[in-house]
Amino acid sequence: MALAQIIDGKALAQSVREKVGTAVGSLKSQHNIIPGLTVILVGENPASQVYVRNKAKFTEQLGMTSRVIQLPQTCSQSELLSHINELNQDDKVHGILVQLPLPDQIESSEVLNHIRPEKDVDGFHSVNVGKLCIGQPCFVPCTPLGSVMLIKQVRANLAGAHAVIVGRSNIVGKPMVQLLLQENCTVSVAHSRTKDLAAITKQADILIAAVGRPEMITADHVKPGTIVIDVGINRVPAPEKGEGKTKLVGDVAFDEVANIASAITPVPGGVGPMTIACLLRNTLQAACESANIDMSQI
Ligand code: GUN
Repeated sequence: MALAQIIDGKALAQSVREKVGTAVGSLKSQHNIIPGLTVILVGENPASQVYVRNKAKFTEQLGMTSRVIQLPQTCSQSELLSHINELNQDDKVHGILVQLPLPDQIESSEVLNHIRPEKDVDGFHSVNVGKLCIGQPCFVPCTPLGSVMLIKQVRANLAGAHAVIVGRSNIVGKPMVQLLLQENCTVSVAHSRTKDLAAITKQADILIAAVGRPEMITADHVKPGTIVIDVGINRVPAPEKGEGKTKLVGDVAFDEVANIASAITPVPGGVGPMTIACLLRNTLQAACESANIDMSQI
């Protein structure tokens, strides 16, 4: 029996989606604006296909306009940029998301910086990254934003907490540093070259695992009472379910860590649903800002 409280990402994501859905309805009735999100998917990465399908499903469910542009794996950079040019100029498109990772022939940072910052609902454009660093209003990357909302479900005031982030990606680790600094945490970042990882992670009051290595954070990495946020989504073989079957696991060995932590997010049902809910919120924000409407007023 786990000691830790299981932080329910599915439930929180649903409540965020409900609020966004209500605001979408008001935006439509009061201002005749329908938020629109276009997702570009290059190639046929199975995990990306699932994410994109889910993003489109929830976008439509909330009454927003959803479009997916599917491009072949062999797509050139200039072809991708020309699609972005078109979307940048389309007033009905408030949010543009290019699903990552992109094939090797494409320079991701050039592509991300081609999206108009006002439509960059992922918050990956250098302008939004810079604004986040200096505490200006901007689009905040969805996974770190959702993760902080989950932490706040179990600890409202994070001031003075030591947060240890394992992973330094542009999508999660680095923006997470900024968000937790804004919450007045003391922040440490560990990564693949960190020596004696457990000695660092054991200092954490809040431990964020965002490395993409199945169940690498074990009981030996965690001090009693820590809040553990598992950002990993790894598909691994599950012979116990039958031959050829697979299952999703996080970066945290859930069962053993749940006996030590005070609270933990499950995989699936933790951070994943929050990422999509925050994307929908960012799309609403983009639509409001395109018409100079204060999102909190609708
Ligand atoms: N691939 C994995 N996570 C993300 C994300 O948050 N945004 C995009 N665009 N691609 C991703």
